[in-house]
Amino acid sequence: MGKTILVTGSSGFVGSHTVKYFSKAGFQVLGLDEAAPAEHIQKYLTDSLVCDIGDERVVSYVKRRDAQGVIHCAAKCLVGESVEKPDLYQDYNVTRSRRFLSNIRAAGIERMIFSSTAATYGEPIQTPIPESHLQKPINPYGATKLQFEKDLLSAHDGKSFKVGIVRYFNAAGADPETELGEVHDPETHLIPNAILAALGKKKEFLLFGTDYETRDGSCERDFVHVWDLAQAHAQLFDQLAGSKDARIYNLGSQAAYTVIEVLDEIDRQTKTKLKRKNMPRRPGDPSRLIADSSKARMELGWKPEWSELPKIISTALSWHRHVL
Ligand SMILES: NC(=O)c1ccc[n+]([C@@H]2O[C@H](COP(=O)([O-])OP(=O)(O)OC[C@H]3O[C@@H](n4cnc5c(N)ncnc54)[C@H](O)[C@@H]3O)[C@@H](O)[C@H]2O)c1
Repeated sequence: MGKTILVTGSSGFVGSHTVKYFSKAGFQVLGLDEAAPAEHIQKYLTDSLVCDIGDERVVSYVKRRDAQGVIHCAAKCLVGESVEKPDLYQDYNVTRSRRFLSNIRAAGIERMIFSSTAATYGEPIQTPIPESHLQKPINPYGATKLQFEKDLLSAHDGKSFKVGIVRYFNAAGADPETELGEVHDPETHLIPNAILAALGKKKEFLLFGTDYETRDGSCERDFVHVWDLAQAHAQLFDQLAGSKDARIYNLGSQAAYTVIEVLDEIDRQTKTKLKRKNMPRRPGDPSRLIADSSKARMELGWKPEWSELPKIISTALSWHRHVL
């Protein structure tokens, strides 16, 4: 049998694109998500298990198919919700992930890549942010992801279990073939929300925070295309096989765009003026999160092809137009 991997969160945004990417690269891909996969994701899956990541059925699922590796994307990942419900985030992102870790180790998994986040850094004291930057999260989402990073690093032994941690900045864009895209429920992510407003599916776009110390007062972010993220996972998965050390990489475009600049680009591409409503800052949002991702570029040979803002917006826009 060829190479087999398990992707958790396979019905979600990053997970579904990762599934497609690995499937196209010749892997057998097993899905795992508490939400059933949509048809357009299902077709890239060799098998799929609809359950919680902490479920014991994961052991037999992985053993039966002889999977060698895991990409762990499943998580609760809304900053605002995490501030309101920290216990829920502790439960999903730490307790259940620990159960999952122990189950996949029992099943003999040798390599694991964990979707972590720039939110583990907190308010940056250095920009762009290198992997060695102090990790001091300012919201429970970032804190729970950091806790699980530490669990994984303790589990890494360089022989029977090898760990890769990838800290995404703002994952965005959509499958260049327009099959997959970004949907969250509720949708709190900037680009889909702004596109929905631009296409008349939302009354207005809520702009949280206009008094940050940035060039136009809105938050500054680093947007990385989801297809480029998938490419980095594939490169890391290969390299982990021969690696004694745990690997940690920032995945970002290294370009800084403010929220207002993103809205302007959407206006430019849709030839509309989307309605913006200024709101107070959202608790837990740092002013600026920009990656230094030179390590991934150098060590993995990662070459993002889709992460310039106009391409991110145009792929996301095409997908939204296709499904709306
Ligand atoms: N989207 C981003 O900008 C971004 C940035 C940094 C890091 N990340 C990380 O990337 C990963 C994927 O993010 P996303 O945007 O694709 O999120 P998403 O919400 O689209 O997908 C997450 C998926 O995980 C599933 N899931 C959650 N908890 C589960 C559980 N206990 N058992 C089974 N399934 C479960 C959900 O049903 C969902 O399909 C997350 O770990 C997130 O922390 C995302």
